[in-house]
Amino acid sequence: MAKIAIMGYGTVGSGVYEVIKVNQNIVNTKAKEDIEIQYVLDSRDFPGDPVEEVLTHDFNDILNDDEVSVVVEVMGGVKPAYEFTKALLLKGKSVCTSNKELVAAHGAELIKIAEEKNINYLFEASVGGGIPILRPLISSITADKIQEIKGVLNGTTNYMLTKMSKEGLEYDDVLKDAQNKGYAERNPTADVEGYDACRKISILMSLALEAQVDYNDVMTEGITNITKTDIDYAKAMGKVIKLLGVGKTTKEGSWAFVAPFMIGEDSPLYMVNDVFNGICVTGNMLGQVMFYGRGAGKEATAAAVVSDVVDAIKHKNTHVIINWAEEKQELMPMDSFKTSRFVRVESYDKPKAKKAVSDIFGDVKFTELPELEDEFGFITPKAAEFETDRLLSSLLSCEGIENILGTLITEE
Ligand code: HSE
Repeated sequence: MAKIAIMGYGTVGSGVYEVIKVNQNIVNTKAKEDIEIQYVLDSRDFPGDPVEEVLTHDFNDILNDDEVSVVVEVMGGVKPAYEFTKALLLKGKSVCTSNKELVAAHGAELIKIAEEKNINYLFEASVGGGIPILRPLISSITADKIQEIKGVLNGTTNYMLTKMSKEGLEYDDVLKDAQNKGYAERNPTADVEGYDACRKISILMSLALEAQVDYNDVMTEGITNITKTDIDYAKAMGKVIKLLGVGKTTKEGSWAFVAPFMIGEDSPLYMVNDVFNGICVTGNMLGQVMFYGRGAGKEATAAAVVSDVVDAIKHKNTHVIINWAEEKQELMPMDSFKTSRFVRVESYDKPKAKKAVSDIFGDVKFTELPELEDEFGFITPKAAEFETDRLLSSLLSCEGIENILGTLITEE
């Protein structure tokens, strides 16, 4: 018998409870032990809910119960989850979590404690919800140098961008819809500003590089400035806009960032729509593999957490090695990253403006939207961001160019 506790009875916590109850025989068989939920920790009461039988408001009940060997931490946020997790690990209890804020901030330290105590700190559900992505990175893709990780890592913003694209709606309308459907929080900042995806790419790159990628170093831009006009331009070029988390390693160094991208049909991420996530990993031997599935949602995320619980029980007296050192991984400055950019130019003399663009950027493709008389778009050749910025500054002073209305990273 393996006794476990769940800390947090919100969406994911109640999902974990449900998955263990509904799939009881399956998880018990896989774990080769009967799993029993001994405690659920939450500050609230849930009158009428069977969880009341095991509900506690006191963390010490779990910490001091020697029979509890595995604890699920699905409280979210760093405080008090960090103190609780550390105390549990130090007491010799394995911890399984979906808490990306905590993993991104303290993952390396918590893994080290787990190693010292010969137990496990597992966090599959912290990236990609129900998609198995971390275990493949830790245990399967171990013969490769990982060159690139690129993914749609946030379900809420992907739902919003998909809806803007498919239904021609403006940002504010799709945000309201995403909130009504329960995808976006009342305060949607973490999703729409890209902070959630930033934590996730930091975790992925920390595992890929086996060192601490500090999320504060990850340049992060969300989707709040994306307009229907950007989407219309993308459509006119056969592209879509996706918020991507990107990590890249070359012999010069490593980059990690989050930004909206225009991507075309040739990208495997083109078809990742609605609340789904998709993550492409490129290894120097393996080539590209893609992971796709439900990146958010109660059941999918809970299933990933319970899989970790099963793994922790299976490895009761063994630490599963996760190479993520506490040493900081320096990142290259974003302006040295090579991209193409889609640029919107305001002009009252388009022939003159287009000539200036061609003089500076060479043979580029222009795109126009019939309803926008005084502007056009073009895509810059791939170059380091600082070089593109320099050329765009010189473009601004050319005859026929009124203004640069915006730019978006694009894949050419
Ligand atoms: N808010 C996150 C998303 C939840 O929309 O992807 C899963 O981490």
